Amino acid sequence: MAASHSDAGPETTTDSEDAVSLRDVRKTYYLGEPVHALDGVSLSIHRGSYTAVMGPSGSGKSTLLNLIGCLDTASEGQVFVNGKEVSALSERDRTRVRGDEIGFVFQTFNLMPKLTAAENVALPLVFQGVSRSKRKSHAESVLDEVGLGDRTGHRPNELSGGQRQRVAIARALVTDPAIILADEPTGNLDSETGRQIMGLFQRLHDEGNTILMVTHERHIAEHAERVIHVLDGTIERIEEIESPRRVEIEAF
Ligand SMILES: Nc1ncnc2c1ncn2[C@@H]1O[C@H](COP(=O)(O)OP(=O)(O)OP(=O)(O)O)[C@@H](O)[C@H]1O
Ligand SMILES: [Mg+2]
Repeated sequence: MAASHSDAGPETTTDSEDAVSLRDVRKTYYLGEPVHALDGVSLSIHRGSYTAVMGPSGSGKSTLLNLIGCLDTASEGQVFVNGKEVSALSERDRTRVRGDEIGFVFQTFNLMPKLTAAENVALPLVFQGVSRSKRKSHAESVLDEVGLGDRTGHRPNELSGGQRQRVAIARALVTDPAIILADEPTGNLDSETGRQIMGLFQRLHDEGNTILMVTHERHIAEHAERVIHVLDGTIERIEEIESPRRVEIEAF
């Protein structure tokens, strides 16, 4: 049986149903005084679940996402992604896990300005050795799924903010990752465009994807099934959302 969602103790297992699991993870930055960005975090993210992370600025939300996303390494403790202990891997193997298992959506989109939407989306496939023609057709079909089938040849500066974020989401999806990590995915968007992105995440969740999303907006967090409240580098509490918000119309 899977560990319960709220099982945050050191007994946390690496159940096969867990997309992500952390055991007593600490991250300390040494800049003069040590900063305990994460100070003993244990949690499990079940496969197919939709989780939001909330907490004050500086509480450790991005640090948490970056450790799970293999962009950074823990000072202590264990991080498992899709059953693999990434905290024990070499830099090179971690990079591979990042490319294969993680779809990362950044607040600032992080698109390559000189590449078209399709080329941006296809980029992660280059590192997987996928042929050029397959990359192109796959990137175009994922762009089509996020409602941008008619914008594949546009460069980021020829797209709206919401369209750029959808390109970034398509890029995160193109490798069919075990988990989608999103750090403030609606932070730079107006509320209507933010609603469309929530509609897209809703569809991805309905299709069985695992989503972990940082947000500082309560109404955005309420689209998830549960909210992890982070405070001073620890999990303050985990809140189950009784009936997650649904986006009515998913129009792009
Ligand atoms: N590279 C770094 N070097 C030193 N300290 C860092 C580094 N990155 C983060 N920190 C510190 O770690 C703590 C947690 O930072 P983090 O970015 O995880 O916060 P956050 O919850 O994402 O905040 P925000 O809501 O403002 O994005 C902060 O006190 C921050 O100053
Ligand atoms: Mg942050």
